[in-house]
Amino acid sequence: MSDPYGMPSRLDASKFSLTPDALAIFSRMTRIRDEEQLKTHLIEQTRKAYEEVYRYPCLLKFGHLDFRMTMHPLYGAVVKQGIDTSRPGRFLLDIGTAVGTDARRVVLDGWPSERVYGVDINKKLIDIGRSMFCDSPFSNGIIFVVGDIFADKFVDPSLQPSWQKFHSNSFSSLRPPSTLHCFAGRFTSIYAGSLFHLFDRETQTDLAKRLLSLAALPTVKGKPTFIFGRQVGREPAGYDPVEDIDKWRDVRSGKAIFRHSADTWKLMWSELSAAVKDAGIKVVLNAESKGFETAEEHARGYEEHRLLYWSVELTM
Ligand SMILES: C[S@@+](CC[C@H](N)C(=O)[O-])C[C@H]1O[C@@H](n2cnc3c(N)ncnc32)[C@H](O)[C@@H]1O
Repeated sequence: MSDPYGMPSRLDASKFSLTPDALAIFSRMTRIRDEEQLKTHLIEQTRKAYEEVYRYPCLLKFGHLDFRMTMHPLYGAVVKQGIDTSRPGRFLLDIGTAVGTDARRVVLDGWPSERVYGVDINKKLIDIGRSMFCDSPFSNGIIFVVGDIFADKFVDPSLQPSWQKFHSNSFSSLRPPSTLHCFAGRFTSIYAGSLFHLFDRETQTDLAKRLLSLAALPTVKGKPTFIFGRQVGREPAGYDPVEDIDKWRDVRSGKAIFRHSADTWKLMWSELSAAVKDAGIKVVLNAESKGFETAEEHARGYEEHRLLYWSVELTM
């Protein structure tokens, strides 16, 4: 069990709260009809993930049940891409999928499951997702892949020049792949929810570069590629107060986590996407810092924290 942020050891079930609409969706997903049974099930699976696997603050707040991808301004366009049968080469990647709530929701909303990839470094979270959503071996076609986005043998950011090489429309296989190498330049939607804010500044730049290497370059007018996400940001950009820096460190590098503002975020992507622009592709960057949905979510305590919703749209 990992606890890099010094979080409470026990899950507080009293923090569980879902709207009737959300409960109805979980009931469809899990096929558990009884409301009390469903609530108990979701709490118990969350307890397992939080107490036995990784003490993420969002698990403590039951944030993994919020369908956060649906809150993104681009969600409607992403769903539209998923149901666009005139775009046979469409594939969606949910990177840092954890228990796979967002990947499953986008399938419920119309994406063909065999075109949705959920990737996470932590196999136990993917496995808990299978129990949480009561998957049978054949009931869920989403391709969940265990892998480290920073491992070159999993995703090689230098594969960018191969972007133009791939034209075949379908490459799904029965077994999940063990690397994403053959996906370089293939994903038409890439979502990163609460992922970037786990890392120091250089690592976030590296992550962005890797996601860009996986993104499909658009070949048809009006059919863009989306890289989009949300994470804790800060206005102005910077680090948490010195006395708290130890609490929020990048567990990989040991360095302090950098919180981007909307402006520094756009600057980073603008620099990274220069090569894409050179290939004649338009890059539309959006980043918006919003307040937290609830006062409690803000309770980590920093006035400067914001929710950063962002997107990188590649168009012809
Ligand atoms: C805070 S959770 C966010 C989960 C979900 N995307 C959400 O929005 O609620 C971050 C997830 O990223 C995964 N992760 C962290 N480092 C990773 C890496 N190097 N490669 C792939 N996944 C990673 C973690 O295991 C965890 O499931």
